Amino acid sequence: MSELKNDRYLRALLKQPVDVTPVWMMRQAGRYLPEYRATRAQAGDFMSLCKNAELACEVTLQPLRRYPLDAAILFSDILTIPDAMGLGLYFETGEGPKFERPIQSLDDVKKLPKLDPTDELGYVMNAVSTIRRELKGEVPLIGFSGSPWTLATYMIEGGSSKTFGKIKKMAFAEPQTLHLLLDKVADSVIDYLNAQVKAGAQSLMIFDSWGGVLSPRDYKEFSLQYMHKIVDGLIRENDGRKVPVTLFTKNGGQWIEAIAATGCDAVGLDWTIDIADAKRRVGDKVALQGNMDPSMLHGTHERIREEVQHILAGFGEGNGHVFNLGHGITPDVDPENAGVFINAVHEFSRQYHK
Ligand code: CP3
Repeated sequence: MSELKNDRYLRALLKQPVDVTPVWMMRQAGRYLPEYRATRAQAGDFMSLCKNAELACEVTLQPLRRYPLDAAILFSDILTIPDAMGLGLYFETGEGPKFERPIQSLDDVKKLPKLDPTDELGYVMNAVSTIRRELKGEVPLIGFSGSPWTLATYMIEGGSSKTFGKIKKMAFAEPQTLHLLLDKVADSVIDYLNAQVKAGAQSLMIFDSWGGVLSPRDYKEFSLQYMHKIVDGLIRENDGRKVPVTLFTKNGGQWIEAIAATGCDAVGLDWTIDIADAKRRVGDKVALQGNMDPSMLHGTHERIREEVQHILAGFGEGNGHVFNLGHGITPDVDPENAGVFINAVHEFSRQYHK
C-alpha cells in the first residue's frame, strides 16, 4: 500500500496538529454533479451503481477531481445491510428508499439472517478495495454504516417517515422485539465495518440520521447504547495506523457528552449547535466534525466565505476540527459554490494552525 500523501483528515480526527483544517462534504458524490448524473444514467438505477465496483469508484473520485477535498467517502448506502438481509430495497423516484418486506413482528426479527459481509455484501468490499487502489494514497478513504436505530426506522417503517409511528409503537409497546432487532443489526454493522477496514477503509463513520427524533431517555436506550456496542467491537488499528471512528447523530447536539463517552474519536455536528459551545463541552475528549448548514451553499460567495470564517473562529485554535456540512449536500446546489466553500476552509484556517 502506498503512503498517504495527505493525512490531515486522519490527523485532525486524532487531535494531532495539521497545516490547515481538513474538509470533506457529506454526500459529496451525488446528484449536484453533472458527471455523477451521467455515470448514474450509465449504471441504470442507484443500487446498480452501488453494486458495480468500477462505477462506484468512478463516482467516489469525481468530487476529488473537482475540489481539493481531504477525504474520499465510499460510494454506497446505509441501506445495503437491510437489503442484504432480504427486505427488498427499491427506490421510487422522488420518494426515497422503500422496502418490499418491512419488519412487522417478533417472528420477522427472529428470521433475519446473520450476514457474512464478504458474501452478500461482497460488492461493497470490492468497491472499497477498488477505490483504495485508484486513490493511489492521495487522501484517506472513509467507510461507513447507518446506526442500528436509523437502519431499524427504515426496516420497520418500510421507507422514510415523518412521524416514526410504527417503530415508536414497537419501542413503547413491544420493546423486547425492538431490542432484539437493534442487537442483531448492531452485530451485522460491526462485521460490516470491520470488513470495510480489512478491505481498505482508513476511517469509519456511523450515520444516526434519526436518533434526534427520540427523547433523551429513549435516545440512550434505543440509539446510543447500540452505537456504543459498535464502537466497542470495531478494529481500531490497521496497517500500523489508527482507524478513527466518527459518530454523527442528526439533531443530537444536546447529547454530545454522552456520544463522546462511547469512546469514539470524533463527534459529527449538525448546524443547530454552536461549534464553540460543542468544543467547550467535549473538545478535550474528542475531535469535532462540522458544521455548516448545507443550505448556506445557496448563499452568495461572500456569505459562504463569511460563514466558514465564523465556524473556524468558533472552533478557534487547537487541534481536532474536521470541517464539513451539518448534513448532506443537496442535489440543487451549484457545484461552483461547493468549491467556494472548500477553498475558504483551507484559506481561512491557516491562521489557526501555527
Ligand atoms: O457521502 C457520499 O458521497 C457517499 C454516499 C452516501 C449515499 N448515501 C449515497 C446516496 C452516503 C454516506 C449515504 C448515507 C445515507 N443513505 C444516509 C445517512 C446520511 C443522511 O443523509 O442522513 C441515509 C439516511 C440514507 C438513505 C437514503 N439513500 C435516502 C434517504 C436516499 C434518497 C435520498 C434522495 O435525495 O433521493 C438514498 C439514496 C442515495 N444515497 C442517493 C445517493 C447519492 C441518491 C440516489 C440517486 O442517485 O438517485
